[in-house]
Amino acid sequence: MTEPKQTQAGPYVVELGPGEYWWCSCGLSDNQPFCDGTHDTAGTGLKPLRIEIAKRREVALCGCRQSKNKPFCDGTHETLETPS
Ligand code: FES
Repeated sequence: MTEPKQTQAGPYVVELGPGEYWWCSCGLSDNQPFCDGTHDTAGTGLKPLRIEIAKRREVALCGCRQSKNKPFCDGTHETLETPS
């Protein structure tokens, strides 16, 4: 299994309407922070995480890939010294 790639040193703060979304867990998608299927073509062994939004709201999605509450930011990025 491939280690996930950090795509930015902080969260992606996005407003999402009701629906289903897939957070990119590998960091290789060209459509950050969402999955574009690259995890499969690159053979990472990683899978995207599903996000279900019931009511329009702002969410902070992890960009450093180190959160312990993926796909959401938990502040872990603040403890990282250098991008991974
Ligand atoms: S961006 Fe990863 S924990 Fe905040």
